[in-house]
Amino acid sequence: MARKKIALVGAGNIGGTLAHLIGLKELGDVVLFDVFAGVAAGKALDIMQSGPVDGFDSKMVGSADYAAIEGADVVIVTAGFPRLPGMTRDDLLTKNAEVITKVAEGIKTYAPNAFVICITNPLDVMVWVLQQKSGLPPEKVVGMAGVLDSARFRLFLAEEFGVSVEDVTAFVLGGHGDTMVPLTRYSTVAGIPVPDLVKMGWSTQEKIDAIVTRTANGGGEIVKLLEKGSAFYAPAASAIAMAESYLKDKKRVLPCAVLLNGEYGMNDFYVGVPVVIGDKGVEKIVEVQFTEAEKAAFDKSCDAVKKLIADFKKLGV
Ligand code: APR
Repeated sequence: MARKKIALVGAGNIGGTLAHLIGLKELGDVVLFDVFAGVAAGKALDIMQSGPVDGFDSKMVGSADYAAIEGADVVIVTAGFPRLPGMTRDDLLTKNAEVITKVAEGIKTYAPNAFVICITNPLDVMVWVLQQKSGLPPEKVVGMAGVLDSARFRLFLAEEFGVSVEDVTAFVLGGHGDTMVPLTRYSTVAGIPVPDLVKMGWSTQEKIDAIVTRTANGGGEIVKLLEKGSAFYAPAASAIAMAESYLKDKKRVLPCAVLLNGEYGMNDFYVGVPVVIGDKGVEKIVEVQFTEAEKAAFDKSCDAVKKLIADFKKLGV
């Protein structure tokens, strides 16, 4: 059986980390695409040279030609610009939408059957642009945010409870921004919901509230520490979990940004909800029952995403 082909559009911090993880996990061969062909080729060669040490045979190449992604099974998109000092949010929207439009054309031409994962920010708008401009079916175009936000929530909860991260499950829904909705009621330690753990005296509501706030600001915390650039290890690991579920038809239940078509009473925009990912892409959108407060928080988060899309439409990119 031929190896799977994974194209990484954007060979920056996340792109390089993705390639390394793909090698270590032996998920397939890699094409690193970037406007800087040398960076893409250099990272590809460097990572491939770790193969003899770590015991993987993935072939990796770098390119600035979209033809190189031809026939890819999975495409992970991180191409774009970070928000630089002096840049407004609209400037970033415009610049990255232009990049994503080009990426969408490349995917449409060379990898129309791929499962596409978008990571570029502002995520909920960029993944929507990617789907619209590529014309790929919505179940094959998803955004990575919820797995990362949930991972952050899981880590902070595990630290608070003094238990393994492996035994903590958590759901963070909504848009990828300050309005994201960490659902404590659906977050558990080995199946015991967080509110029950509070009643059992494992923590206090104040501490859980502080963890929720820290999770919502998780990206900003890293940006502040790094000073240059944003998080890349955990975002890469999160996208790999999604790619692996598709490639191995694992049917994992993961929070991802998907196009809603009536689910949760919402239509025609991307936002984070739990989905089943298998070899057909998004195979099911899971509609959880919200309490009134959760519904209000989710609606507020959706409104923030809708506003961003409306702002974007006004820019006329
Ligand atoms: N086509 C291909 N690659 C491009 C294009 C383009 N039109 N424009 C820019 N790039 C490349 C850059 O050359 C760079 O190598 O995208 C890469 C982005 O890498 P980094 O700046 O290192 O950013 P990274 O940390 O990888 O994050 C990428 O993910 O989490 C989000 O906010 C983050 O939007 C950002 C994205």
